[in-house]
Amino acid sequence: MKFFLDTANIDEIRAANEMGMVDGVTTNPSLIAKEGREFHEVIREIAGLIEGPISAEVIGLDTGSMVKEARVLAAIHANVVIKVPMTVDGLKAVRILAGEGIRTNVTLIFSPLQALMAAKAGAAYVSPFVGRLDDLSQEGLSLVEQVLRIYQNYDYQTEIIVASVRHPLHVLEAALMGAHIATIPFSVLKRFADHPMTEKGIAAFLADWKKANETT
Ligand code: G3P
Repeated sequence: MKFFLDTANIDEIRAANEMGMVDGVTTNPSLIAKEGREFHEVIREIAGLIEGPISAEVIGLDTGSMVKEARVLAAIHANVVIKVPMTVDGLKAVRILAGEGIRTNVTLIFSPLQALMAAKAGAAYVSPFVGRLDDLSQEGLSLVEQVLRIYQNYDYQTEIIVASVRHPLHVLEAALMGAHIATIPFSVLKRFADHPMTEKGIAAFLADWKKANETT
């Protein structure tokens, strides 16, 4: 499973990269706005830090504006992937960009048919927002399961980025299903490695070792 980091914060990306756990980064207008820095400069800096795909989202809502912005964003670095919202205009932009060899990540996916349309349009990635569906008492991960089945049925090469991850179980369930990628907030990723029984076990090993070496 590929781990993408869902942030535009350089310090978080550096820290996760040092863990060897960053296969890509996803941003969105809210995450960029949170940093209070110039959008393209942030994307350029991220591209200098990590090897994998970096999702940068267009702001325009009509096809022409999306394609125009996308070409500028794609020119920043070869690893830049263009995030496009799941709309009819977005699908038209995806098709045009795919024809130009520009990879897209269709975002704000909340239904399996949206994901099917994105794959048909030529999207490299789709981002189903599991947390936001859970917030509405809907089964976010069931959407991932359905999209996986549809993509396997028709051998679509579009990769699923499980997004809007709220806690480690979202990633665990997605991995058990075989989802290609999870894009994970750093605050969630940091929790994967920790377990109280591991810490307890290390402490006990060290205490026994120390005790044995005191008597020799
Ligand atoms: O990549 C999409 C993600 O950032 C959205 O997450 O927590 O705003 O639903 P959230």
